[in-house]
Amino acid sequence: MTIDIAVLPGDGIGVEVIAAAMKVLEHVARGGGHPIQATYADVGWAAIDKHGTALPAATRDVCRRSKAILFGAVGLPDRDKTLPQAQRPERVALLELRKGLFANLRHVVLPPGLAEHCPLKAHLIAAGIDIMIIRELTGGLYYGKPQGISGDAPNRAAVDTMAYSEKEIVRILKVGFETARKRRRRLTSVDKANILATSQLWRETATAMGADYPDVQLEHMYVDNASMQLLRRPTEFDVIVTENTFGDILSDEASMLCGSIGLVPSACLGDDPSVVPFYEPIHGSAPDIAGQNKANPIGAILTVAMMLRYTFGLNQEATAIEKGCSKVLNAAKVLTGDLGGKASCSDVTAAVIAAM
Ligand code: IPM
Ligand code: MG
Repeated sequence: MTIDIAVLPGDGIGVEVIAAAMKVLEHVARGGGHPIQATYADVGWAAIDKHGTALPAATRDVCRRSKAILFGAVGLPDRDKTLPQAQRPERVALLELRKGLFANLRHVVLPPGLAEHCPLKAHLIAAGIDIMIIRELTGGLYYGKPQGISGDAPNRAAVDTMAYSEKEIVRILKVGFETARKRRRRLTSVDKANILATSQLWRETATAMGADYPDVQLEHMYVDNASMQLLRRPTEFDVIVTENTFGDILSDEASMLCGSIGLVPSACLGDDPSVVPFYEPIHGSAPDIAGQNKANPIGAILTVAMMLRYTFGLNQEATAIEKGCSKVLNAAKVLTGDLGGKASCSDVTAAVIAAM
């Protein structure tokens, strides 16, 4: 099978972590006899500097013609400030490329060898942490109308709208139930049903759907409680499904359970075959360490594993990458600075390839 992908490294450490991820991809693809057709394209500031926009038409075309998008990071806070919000790379590129992809899977795993990097006490994490967060990605506060600031200072007012249709709720909960079914069969649906109407509809819908998944243990949790339980009993979570903003916040919180946000991969998936799935590590562009071969490539490498599994059905190759990463992390010898080590991005990449 040809692994036909658009590669968009973007800004900051996006460049080096995607180069690392591509090395690992080349290694597994060669082993399995799968040719890679990778087309590189500019995005973010790299694109603004050359083409005047964070998402040039040529980049869109490359994406449209590919089976998956492998994305690094966009945005450079110092330069972003110079642009109105509507022109910043995260709006123009990131949110654009994610359009139509309603299911954002963020996989948080603490390799046992990194237990001391988890900020929680040993007894709280002894049973192991492996949480799949499923964040709804195309609705809620990010897109609801009305949205905006009106009036004149000092009497301005601002509004954001959290809106969800039943159809949007059903399709994301379905991903939640089905993912739980393939894992430990526990689904935590996170909402704020004591206050929000969208959450009341969400909870009602989840309860009704639960009848079709008698093999999945469904629990409902308020988002404020969920943020607390993630620290109190993280090992009991299997799959979490939640709306856009709650998922944004909880996934950053959960990422720290494995010691570094640099370890967490993600996939953005939809159900419309004309929208190209999008894969990215969840970390940002980290301009403070960019270009110094210091970034942790594991999040990007594990992102490639998700891409092979979800878009190309290459489960064996995906598992081989995941095992290679766990070996390196569990040995805890070759680690980047975010995990207290001295190894470079390329050292870690080479170690992962050697461990496969
Ligand atoms: C994320 C980020 C983005 C989001 C921002 C940069 C728009 O925080 O991927 O989690 O909120 O989705
Ligand atoms: Mg976020």
